[in-house]
Amino acid sequence: MSEDARKAAALIEERAPGRNPKVGLVLGSGLGGLGDQVEDAVAFPFSELPGFPQPTVEGHAGRLILGTLSGVEVACLQGRVHLYEGHPATTVQPLVRTLKLLGCETLVLTNAAGALDLDAKPGQLMLITDHINGQGTNPLLGKNDDSFGPRFPAMTGAYSKALQARMKTVAAEQGVTLREGTYIALLGPTFETPAEIRMCQAMGANAVGMSTVPEVIVARHCGMECAAVSVLTNMGAGLADEELSHDQTLEFAQKASATLQELIKGFVGTFA
Ligand code: HPA
Repeated sequence: MSEDARKAAALIEERAPGRNPKVGLVLGSGLGGLGDQVEDAVAFPFSELPGFPQPTVEGHAGRLILGTLSGVEVACLQGRVHLYEGHPATTVQPLVRTLKLLGCETLVLTNAAGALDLDAKPGQLMLITDHINGQGTNPLLGKNDDSFGPRFPAMTGAYSKALQARMKTVAAEQGVTLREGTYIALLGPTFETPAEIRMCQAMGANAVGMSTVPEVIVARHCGMECAAVSVLTNMGAGLADEELSHDQTLEFAQKASATLQELIKGFVGTFA
């Protein structure tokens, strides 16, 4: 597994020499458009990279893109894997570790999530300040590779306070409302029952989704700093009248994507 990351990074460095990405990006549902704005881009389909899985869900392309965004060298994962596709959680190891081996010290993640706070509105953005791993599995299961990080990594500062402050500054400059709170990841692929939504609220979560937590765990294990933003595409099940659907998720992700893309571009620009 860790060999896959080394092989993938070596292959990328051989085919795209001289690149030195500082910031890694994981682009979620309907938000992959940012990958298309990367300048001077070289793209590697996941199918060409050792150990990289093939995403299956609609709206997820599956490419690693190297290039420049807001004047900063970046490496983007356009299309991510979700555990509900049937992949073991360890599948995310090579994706995140390849970004680390390419030189990324920071990982920025976006996702679509259901809102748990009653005053939230679909289409709003939420800065993730902490997470709850409710997926019943962990991407670091199995033998630890000490060359990446320790057996028992701390998750106290999973979402860097300094990066949170930076993201809030950029949001304020752009006049973007940025909620904040705890993100709980469940396994999916079912949306939650109203009872599960009440459980998530009782646990102290502000948004619920099916991604991000595995990548953040692998990133923290190998010492990357993380910043993550959710697009709240809908109210959690039972909190509003509508029945949840993937189409609604994509529709609101699409509606908010211009705002989110500007926010992330502004944020990445602070690394110049
Ligand atoms: N639940 C879980 N995942 C989601 C949701 C939701 O309501 N909306 C977008 N992704």
